[in-house]
Amino acid sequence: MSGKLSGNGVTSTCNRITYKVHSWRLRSYPKEQWRRRRGEGEEEGSIQLLKSRGQHLLTNPRVLESIVRTSRIKPEDTVLEIGPGTGNLTLKLLEVAKKVVAVEIDKRMVEILCKRTAEGGLRDRLNVICSDALKTDFPQFDLVVANIPYGISSRLLAKLVFGTKLNPFRSATLLLQKEFARRLLAKPGDSEFNRLSVNVKLLAEVEFIMDVSKNDFLPRPKVDSSVVKVYPKNVIPDVNLEEWWAFTRTCFNKKNKTLGATFKAKEEVSGVNEVVKGTWAL
Ligand SMILES: C[S@@+](CC[C@H](N)C(=O)[O-])C[C@H]1O[C@@H](n2cnc3c(N)ncnc32)[C@H](O)[C@@H]1O
Repeated sequence: MSGKLSGNGVTSTCNRITYKVHSWRLRSYPKEQWRRRRGEGEEEGSIQLLKSRGQHLLTNPRVLESIVRTSRIKPEDTVLEIGPGTGNLTLKLLEVAKKVVAVEIDKRMVEILCKRTAEGGLRDRLNVICSDALKTDFPQFDLVVANIPYGISSRLLAKLVFGTKLNPFRSATLLLQKEFARRLLAKPGDSEFNRLSVNVKLLAEVEFIMDVSKNDFLPRPKVDSSVVKVYPKNVIPDVNLEEWWAFTRTCFNKKNKTLGATFKAKEEVSGVNEVVKGTWAL
């Protein structure tokens, strides 16, 4: 891999394992090498990218701009960004939003993000929360726009759509693993249709925006990606969500059984009766 990227804060050439972003060197090591280096102090101005944190930075300015454009951010909006990394997307968001709330688990990334936004005179409109997005209560926001770590996609999406009662938001524009995005978009009868599709569809509509090439990231991931936009529904069905989760788990656990056969089993029927009564017909 080689090349000079410009126009989005990525300022230097890259080779197989070392990238320089802004004034920072970003390194991606093969597993064994990285394990050996874990715990060692980092050189000043350098940072090692962690596979375990899904640290694949989106570097194509055209893709970054498309994501921001399709998010339809208004000048008065507060945008929630999960996993801002070194701030490639954050800087673009700050060009159009009133405020960005960025939740980032890696304090080394936070340091770079703060430095870059301060240099751009944008720091006062950025609220950085250095924490695990799955464990943090989000402040009020209007929209979500994020290139999220793929390892937390399911749990994060559930947190967002199941939390809409507390924190209503217009939409979430998310860069996801392509396969995961296909499942969100799947319809009954499609091979990708699964429990996740059903659970998300209960509370939200999902729109396909675009596919994103592996080459648009540093380091290049193994999987393809897609951008989708999730719109929480205005009217939320009156259903106990925990019971609904249990119900759909039962439905999708027995892959080779029809629903009729699954629910003929006595113990299953007693477990779901309450859930479907008055709300959902089988
Ligand atoms: C795919 S990178 C995206 C970076 C940046 N948004 C971009 O597009 O270049 C994911 C980012 O999420 C962060 N991250 C990973 N797990 C997280 C978690 N549980 N909570 C918050 N941030 C997390 C990583 O440290 C990384 O910076």
